[in-house]
Amino acid sequence: MASLAGKFRARSSPMSLPMIRTERMLLRPWMREDVDALHALWTAPEMRRYLWDDVVISRETAEQAVESHLATVDKNRIGYWALHIPPPISSAPAPIVGFCGFRHIEDGPDIELMYGLEAEFWGKGLATEACFAVLDYLWRSTSYQCVYARTDPPNRRSVGVMLRLGMTQESTTEAMMKYVLRRPA
Ligand SMILES: CC(C)(COP(=O)(O)OP(=O)(O)OC[C@H]1O[C@@H](n2cnc3c(N)ncnc32)[C@H](O)[C@@H]1OP(=O)(O)O)[C@@H](O)C(=O)NCCC(=O)NCCS
Repeated sequence: MASLAGKFRARSSPMSLPMIRTERMLLRPWMREDVDALHALWTAPEMRRYLWDDVVISRETAEQAVESHLATVDKNRIGYWALHIPPPISSAPAPIVGFCGFRHIEDGPDIELMYGLEAEFWGKGLATEACFAVLDYLWRSTSYQCVYARTDPPNRRSVGVMLRLGMTQESTTEAMMKYVLRRPA
């Protein structure tokens, strides 16, 4: 993994998001080369159900998401990370098993936390672990005062992540539950 980390670190500019190591994962800022892997991740049935309203998005849509991240990450200091689980001993790059990060809500000042994991990795606490790591980055490295997370009410697993992160419910409609986490005092 040292070589993977070195490779990606060398490509990031000083203002870009950092690579982050957690107990079980490597979080690496998205790169243009991730489009195909993210497209495959996002079109899986379990992933797309709530994330993309069950639509099988085109490669072009995945590309737009990555380009939008690349266009704003240096200015906003927020964006997305690809999640890797480093194999115990291997020189091969680990595949992308998920993503998490932040985006502005409808181009306004508020930001929201987004996350997703390949279904075979659900039930292990990995999404929560990754989100705690990027929240730590957010509070330490930016001046945002709070972060929201929104999901469809039936997406109980997503609500579970929000609760484990310590988020509190702000509003609920038939179409959406909105949670908030404020900057720690
Ligand atoms: C939302 C999503 C990431 C949640 O995945 P998840 O596996 O339920 O969440 P975590 O990785 O935090 O794992 C928590 C589960 O692992 C269990 N767990 C096991 N070991 C754990 C540990 N060390 N720490 C925390 N939880 C642990 C928890 O008890 C919990 O299980 P439970 O749901 O049966 O109570 C996943 O369902 C997903 O990718 N969905 C598709 C995309 C999506 O809808 N994203 C949300 C919209 S932004």
